[in-house]
Amino acid sequence: MIVARDAASLRGAVGGWKAAGQRVALVPTMGYLHEGHLALVHRARQLAPRVVATIFVNPTQFAPHEDLGRYPRDEAGDAAKLEAAGCDLLFAPPVEAVYPPGFSTAITMRGPAEDLEGVHRPQMFGGVALVCTRLFGLTGADVAVFGEKDWQQVMVVRQAVSDLALPISIETVPTVRAEDGLALSSRNAYLKPEERRVALALHAALARAAERLRGGATAAEATAQAERELLEAGFRQVDYVALRRESDFAPMERAGEPGRLLAAAWLGQVRLIDNLPL
Ligand code: PAJ
Repeated sequence: MIVARDAASLRGAVGGWKAAGQRVALVPTMGYLHEGHLALVHRARQLAPRVVATIFVNPTQFAPHEDLGRYPRDEAGDAAKLEAAGCDLLFAPPVEAVYPPGFSTAITMRGPAEDLEGVHRPQMFGGVALVCTRLFGLTGADVAVFGEKDWQQVMVVRQAVSDLALPISIETVPTVRAEDGLALSSRNAYLKPEERRVALALHAALARAAERLRGGATAAEATAQAERELLEAGFRQVDYVALRRESDFAPMERAGEPGRLLAAAWLGQVRLIDNLPL
């Protein structure tokens, strides 16, 4: 596996593959990799003969009070996992290689980006769209793979690709979970053992809400009940539990069209998100 730290060496390697007619699949990450990330790499392998993964803790998607400085890192461990999963190139740049001096572009995302996560983390989706579109440009990838774990992120990235007419397609992989249902996340590393036991209530509450919706409950009833269950289980605060249409992220009042139940809640100082298809 090649490790590239700057745009020139990245372009050199990828340019050779593209000149030989080989398609390139990209897996953007912030590192501290787990089986969820590796599922994206496996999907990328099926989609293209060349796979590029990136590890970059993107400062533009963090607010000043958020966890940028303490985001978990283990680049050597990550590199070994990526190589074993069949990744051809790891792009792990310093901040200046992604945002060089004089970098002057910012992106404002509207529409689906302004709801749910966008309300609670207003800076995030502009930063995600900026780094993803820049990584698409730097790598020249034909396809990029994202996880359904961050469902709203997928909607925002698809919107940016469409609005900016970028020549790349976006593929997704279902959420990979621990045996008890907790969605794998790099941020789970922050959980103390007793918090880790409470954390499984997030998936459990969403699963029960989905059952209630299938049984005819309204979204208002099912999401309010899920919020109560989360607080009773030991979550400190619930940012939202909500039902949204898959096609356009519009609120839904009942089950019917394809939808997603999404939630974000705080366990101590750790913010967890999850979602389920309906
Ligand atoms: P990160 O949180 O590292 O996630 C990288 C990719 O892995 C995202 O597409 C995410 O949805 C996916 N992923 C994380 N946990 C998963 C799980 N349990 N199952 C399936 N996929 C999972 O998301 C980001 O980084 C950043 O916002 C990024 C897109 C890299 C832009 O900076």
